[in-house]
Amino acid sequence: MTPTIREIERVITPEPVTEGAGVRLKRSIGTRTLNYLDPFLLLDHFASNDPRDYEAGFPLHPHRGIETVTYVLHGEVHHKDTLGNTGSIGAGDVQWMTAGRGIMHEEMPQVRPEGIAGFQLWVNLPATLKMTRPRYQDIRSDTIPEIKKADGARIRVITGRVDKVSGPVTDIAADPTYLDVFVPAHASFIHPVERGHTAFAYVFEGEARFGSRDRADAPPISSPTLVVLGDGDAVHVTTGETPVRFLLVSGKPLHEPIARHGPFVMNTQAEIEQTLLELSQGTFVTTP
Ligand code: CO
Repeated sequence: MTPTIREIERVITPEPVTEGAGVRLKRSIGTRTLNYLDPFLLLDHFASNDPRDYEAGFPLHPHRGIETVTYVLHGEVHHKDTLGNTGSIGAGDVQWMTAGRGIMHEEMPQVRPEGIAGFQLWVNLPATLKMTRPRYQDIRSDTIPEIKKADGARIRVITGRVDKVSGPVTDIAADPTYLDVFVPAHASFIHPVERGHTAFAYVFEGEARFGSRDRADAPPISSPTLVVLGDGDAVHVTTGETPVRFLLVSGKPLHEPIARHGPFVMNTQAEIEQTLLELSQGTFVTTP
């Protein structure tokens, strides 16, 4: 049986947002247009060479009930939490942080000649894991495998599998795929994604067509754009004169109710109230 190619379901233009202490970024999930793409709660794209756009950073703030995934393309983000974890996320590095029951951290882009560029994705946790112990997977760029295809496509595998090569991020509830894909001009790329899983592509350089070949006359998707893909067995991408680079992300939907309040995402409003109470009483982050 030939695989069913996933067609474009929605095309979302990222919205300019000012977040943290004044970081200017582009948001494409977690907006009024697209509040939730189960299990993905937020997708932010930051890219600037002007320090005024990013130097204020994200000072101390809490998270509960979710995972935050930071992928840096250029520059460096310093990270520190109140449990004593500290580190830096440099070019090509990924931090997959499972906030679970709670962390309080700061994320500070460093002023550099190359500026800053990267992404933050929020992945929801199922009810059974919302209060799990916080966990970090800090992945250095040189441990992320890069697959090179015969036609020149290059795929960095952060999590999930390409040609039997698995990415270094493991044991995530959403069973996610997170790939950074480059496809040269006049080439194509196909990647199987489990039927029933949510999938999107975030085009951040160049342009490409998504979907089956019989829709090849459709206009290409240009960066920056979020493409929500419908259900099927595989994602298919073709380029014309221009190469493309995009994130390809998929995950298993939770189909659970969500109660969302800023950096906290729980299942019920009562759990949000409890979280706010713990914050006001100073009992939010408990050392193990
Ligand atoms: Co944060």
